[in-house]
Amino acid sequence: MRYFIGNWKMFGVPKSINILNKINSFCSKDKNRKKYSVIITPPYTLIETYAKHFKNKSIAIGSQNCYQKDQFSSDTAAVSPYMIRSVGAKYTLVGHSDNRIEGDTNIMLKNKLTFSLKNNLKVIFCIGENKKEKKNKKTFNVLKNQITKVLDKKSNVNNIIIAYEPVWSIGTGKIPNKIELKKTTIYIKKVLKRIFKKKSPPVLYGGSVDGTNVKMFKEIREIDGFLIGGASKSSKKFIDIIKNYYR
Ligand code: PGA
Repeated sequence: MRYFIGNWKMFGVPKSINILNKINSFCSKDKNRKKYSVIITPPYTLIETYAKHFKNKSIAIGSQNCYQKDQFSSDTAAVSPYMIRSVGAKYTLVGHSDNRIEGDTNIMLKNKLTFSLKNNLKVIFCIGENKKEKKNKKTFNVLKNQITKVLDKKSNVNNIIIAYEPVWSIGTGKIPNKIELKKTTIYIKKVLKRIFKKKSPPVLYGGSVDGTNVKMFKEIREIDGFLIGGASKSSKKFIDIIKNYYR
């Protein structure tokens, strides 16, 4: 199974559903349909309507983040995994670099992951080194730390997807070199297999993915799909990524 996940970030109003209607109608007719899953993470404000609209269709809805507590609490503006699941989302991102930069710690991320899984949300757990860490050749150390501080053998591996997103690549148009990315993906799977008794959850790549560079990424067979930011706000760009992946 391959994954094409669109992360809308701070984008979208109710009528933006038209973008997803176009993606859904492409997917429902696509001959490769059974080979992949499409998941879109709109902002919180749109989850309920979109999840209802696409129930039993070709697009699943997720949230971009969640609060690190289970159900209800007195934290202003916080939205818990329980609340997100209750409006029809099936997935949530956890640990996107935007949120790590804003202060998400490993302890917070572990709680987010645990409570999301407990509430039947599948977790797309984001990891990635920043520019300085890459320059200082710390990439593998950073990734290992991000993984092992949050995931452990008790987490349900079947409900976890990993998204490797080098921070320096997000929204910049810069992408990793093919050989290096292959090595990094293999390394991530090795670390995961050590935790989950030889089984690795899917590992996606994210960071400036578009309809052109996807042709290079698809040659790395260890990559199980993509987390797509900018290009997921346009139905044409998003569909082009899927089309060119299978071309
Ligand atoms: P990008 O974003 O595709 O715009 O680089 C990826 C992400 O932040 O998930």
